[in-house]
Amino acid sequence: MISVPVELGARRYEVEIGRGLRHDLARVISDSVGPGVRRAVVVTQEPVVAAGWADGLDLGVPHEIVVVGDGERSKSLATIETLTSGFARDGLARTDVVVALGGGVVTDLAGFAAATYHRGMAYINVATSLLAQVDAAIGGKTGVNLPEGKNLVGSFWQPRAVLCDTETLTSLPAREWACGRGEMAKYAFLGPGEPDASLLSLDLDEQVARCASIKAEVVAADEHEGDRRMVLNYGHTLAHALEASAFGDESLSLRHGEAVAIGLVFAALLARRLGRIDDDRVELHRKVVGAFDLSSRLPERDPHELVSLMGRDKKAAHDLTFVLDGEKGVEVVRGVGEDQVLATLEEMEAAT
Ligand code: GLY
Repeated sequence: MISVPVELGARRYEVEIGRGLRHDLARVISDSVGPGVRRAVVVTQEPVVAAGWADGLDLGVPHEIVVVGDGERSKSLATIETLTSGFARDGLARTDVVVALGGGVVTDLAGFAAATYHRGMAYINVATSLLAQVDAAIGGKTGVNLPEGKNLVGSFWQPRAVLCDTETLTSLPAREWACGRGEMAKYAFLGPGEPDASLLSLDLDEQVARCASIKAEVVAADEHEGDRRMVLNYGHTLAHALEASAFGDESLSLRHGEAVAIGLVFAALLARRLGRIDDDRVELHRKVVGAFDLSSRLPERDPHELVSLMGRDKKAAHDLTFVLDGEKGVEVVRGVGEDQVLATLEEMEAAT
């Protein structure tokens, strides 16, 4: 087992990475939540149950298993109402614990339910997707979508522990691996040294641990997302717009990590247009994204709609804000002109 600390003072916790870690829940609840726990609710999703990952769990206290819908549509205020009403019917007290067993949708939902039920109670993430293990389960940003955009309602509420059970990845569909690899490709540009795909040569637990430690370091430096933490959104401004433009239309749908891969190359082209990086650095972005076996082809979309959705991205203040590469590495750049963004989208479209 590999352990990566998230150094947040009183809210410090460990991200543990290893096969079969879901069976350590009794130990982790006792160590990280304490002796006051009498009950638990495990929030999970159908594919996790179908794969058998919710079978035979021992939490050291009685628990209910609640299944929420799969997919971004379930990340809604309506689901939070259903979940927390269920908590109340199950007699869950403030001193009890919620366990999120699943991917990013489950950890976001269960974390937000835990953040708000009884004005805040403990939760533990047991991440079962690559995306959740390298990103979504760590960092304490919890929340739900509105029809107007992704993750527009939520809170910062740190888990007491994160378990990345790499055995659960054995049931992960190919598109979900791609989804996780999009976030891994992002970390290639956030870690120390020249960006490359050397991460892929490590064994799986070490790959997850390397990404978790980059994320943990950034979160510890800037828990509530000032500029430093915003670098974790590298590639995400266009990605969120692509996802929002496909909302409700399965035929257009892109997995989050697939959208991030496109967003990384877009961000490189935009950075070059703004004179921040050169051709070689753009090529490096294409190479890294390709090495993670991801496409950077821009899907057919109305560029004006994408720009308008990017303006609505929650990290934008009142102008177009991006996270862009440059001489000092990846950083937040505000006040990018709409014309530059449109021209970059056209450049990408012409190249596909
Ligand atoms: N829950 C994801 C994050 O905090 O970044």
